[in-house]
Amino acid sequence: MSILVTGGAGYIGSHAAVELLKTGYDIVIVDNLSNSNFESINRVKELTGKEFPFYKCDLLDRDELNTIFENHNFEAVMHFAGLKAVGESVEIPLMYYHNNITGTINLCDLMAKHDVKKLVFSSSATVYGHPDSVPIDESFPLSATNPYGRTKLMIEDILRDLYISDSTWRIALLRYFNPIGAHESGRIGENPNGIPNNLMPYITQVAIGKREKLSVFGNDYETHDGTGVRDFIHVIDLVKGHLKALKFLDKNKGIETFNLGTGTGYSVMDLINAFSTINSKAIPYQFVDRRPGDIAICYANPTKAEKVLGWRAEKDLNEMCKDSWKWQTDNPNGYEQKVLVQS
Ligand code: NAD
Ligand code: UD1
Repeated sequence: MSILVTGGAGYIGSHAAVELLKTGYDIVIVDNLSNSNFESINRVKELTGKEFPFYKCDLLDRDELNTIFENHNFEAVMHFAGLKAVGESVEIPLMYYHNNITGTINLCDLMAKHDVKKLVFSSSATVYGHPDSVPIDESFPLSATNPYGRTKLMIEDILRDLYISDSTWRIALLRYFNPIGAHESGRIGENPNGIPNNLMPYITQVAIGKREKLSVFGNDYETHDGTGVRDFIHVIDLVKGHLKALKFLDKNKGIETFNLGTGTGYSVMDLINAFSTINSKAIPYQFVDRRPGDIAICYANPTKAEKVLGWRAEKDLNEMCKDSWKWQTDNPNGYEQKVLVQS
């Protein structure tokens, strides 16, 4: 029996793969490499000393995915595969709906066909839209402000309907807050394509000299220093929450939702200052207008995950900053190999 990890070549999926292998699970990874690099698979093998099957397969290719289900005996699926860039989802919404929703429908259909009814799904705090207050708990009203967020909301609804139709499913909807950091070895980490949209990869690229300065989007929010506040969570803590969710599903039928956050909000300036101090690296920045669609403050109430799963985030902001910087300095070009030009 093994765990199918969709999107396992990506940022969070590759860290989950390491944690699963370290804990003794067998895994199979399926990824179309649309936003990742095969090198991450090599690194997962190197870090764990374990072998596992990898399929370069698109979840939209139902026949190929069916063959993978026929060739393996899965006990559960961790479903990370999806497109995640908010701006891009506004520009090409159909691609986002097709990829994320059709991909998930194909996956669940084949899971049902092959009687694999245990699923851990990557949802997002984006499903809380513009929350009225903080900390945010799982009962808060749901809404979305962009096509990416709507794919997460729709998939959550689809999975709830699936459970209503067949109560033998066991599903965990994990709503991530802001994952940052990297494996402490510096061998795997976040590998954004082009200009990073998210804060931490932008900071590390400024720190290493790839970008001149960080634009801080807004310093007139109603927060302690005027900049946006988020619940940054170390990716290793985040993936440990997935293993706890898997154990929970072994014992419980049904569909349950969990916030995965630390419960503490830090501002953009807090993050810049922590990064600069712990890594002795100044981050040039300038204040610019707010980014459309951004909210002022977002942090989790993670009590449910603590009570029900026995999980809580342990790593602090300094560790997140240290590990993000180690990943960036050890891999200035991410997983892309340096091309040596001889003159
Ligand atoms: P990522 O882009 O690094 O990983 C996603 C992986 O899925 C990539 O390797 C990509 O190639 C693969 N993929 C995409 N579409 C596919 C398809 N149709 N078939 C097969 N593979 C496909 O992203 P990540 O940061 O690791 O995020 C993982 C999941 O967590 C995503 O579903 C994302 O929406 C969700 N999430 C991420 C964050 C975050 O801040 N990183 C926050 C909340 C939720
Ligand atoms: C963004 C997405 C959200 C997604 C999450 C994880 C938007 C509106 N929201 O959340 O849907 O789930 O990423 O992928 O895009 N910031 C800067 N300068 C930068 C980048 C960010 O000041 O160059 C600020 C932002 O304004 C925000 C904070 O840093 O206050 C965090 O931003 P980011 O990392 O993009 O995450 P979210 O906006 O929380």
